[in-house]
Amino acid sequence: MEKRVLSGIRATGRLHLGNYLGAVKGMLALQRDSEYETLYMIADLHTMTTPYDRKTLTSMAREVVMDYLSCGLDPEKSVVFVQSDVADLHAQLAFYLSTVVSVARMRHLPTFKDKVKQYPKHVTMALLNYPLLMAADILIYKASKVPVGIDQEPHLEVAREVARKMNAQYGMDFPEPTRFVTEGEYVPSLMGEGKMSKSVEGSYITLTDDLATIKKRLAVAPTDSGKGDKVPSTGGVANLLALIELFEGRKRRREYEEQYVTDGIQYKDLKDELAGAISRELEPIQKRRKELEADPKYVDQVIREGAEKARLIARKTVAEVREKMGLG
Ligand code: TYM
Repeated sequence: MEKRVLSGIRATGRLHLGNYLGAVKGMLALQRDSEYETLYMIADLHTMTTPYDRKTLTSMAREVVMDYLSCGLDPEKSVVFVQSDVADLHAQLAFYLSTVVSVARMRHLPTFKDKVKQYPKHVTMALLNYPLLMAADILIYKASKVPVGIDQEPHLEVAREVARKMNAQYGMDFPEPTRFVTEGEYVPSLMGEGKMSKSVEGSYITLTDDLATIKKRLAVAPTDSGKGDKVPSTGGVANLLALIELFEGRKRRREYEEQYVTDGIQYKDLKDELAGAISRELEPIQKRRKELEADPKYVDQVIREGAEKARLIARKTVAEVREKMGLG
């Protein structure tokens, strides 16, 4: 059997560089690798675990499908599907998995604690259950590789634990899924603190930003005098250098680091150069995106066929789990 890959992104808006470098680039690498059968999902059920707008949920999921396709996910090679189209199966498996996991384990996850801080008034069962739904997403396809950013590691740890328990207690044959790591596994925020995130205004650049917008966003990124004895390892300057490395390579980063401790960096030049490099990488994606926007029927077809293909695999696993757990 080919090894399987599963990944997903929530339908919370247009993708940003963190999603692209941390997740999509890994998805593309594995799509190219003939050893793997790849399934890429839009996690719209996960979107519902924090406050969301029901009027835009469906259109947001569709936007992510289009972002996926623009980035090069190819429905001829990968199954591209929307999670809620197979909600009956994913949510069903999540319930079965929840029988082998303690409440304490879920409550102590750092990702859960972060969300509780962010949305203290919305600490729902759905939020507590987030990692189990994600484990179900992965295990339902018996996927062994998951291209996601480093922030998702605690969730993968849960998926591995659940797989082990299901295998030991019920004789399932779930692989223990591991993270497929990309160079951009942690893309820092433009604001100098934390990671690039859709929920932090000013922290991100989206895949649809044009050169002028990218420049504007970079312009407010915090810097310093540009010169000193030691190159900062945290904060705004460190983050800009990390982005230079991601878009222009390690060599260019070293040159800037050298400049910092000698003549000094002119941040206007650095930011202009970085904006140009980011924009060059995004241009072909934006071009494909325009073509897709003009072809809604094709996008409908991708979503429909993706759901059918995903369902065929998911149905088998759920039947197997039901049987092994005593549901006949
Ligand atoms: P989401 O929507 O929060 O994040 C989507 C993906 O983008 C990555 N990412 C980053 N990577 C590097 N640097 C950043 N600044 C950055 N910001 C976001 C995330 O690591 C993730 O890979 N729980 C998942 C969605 C999901 C899923 C799944 C993933 C649901 N079911 C099954 C894999 C398998 C999530 O956090 O999405």
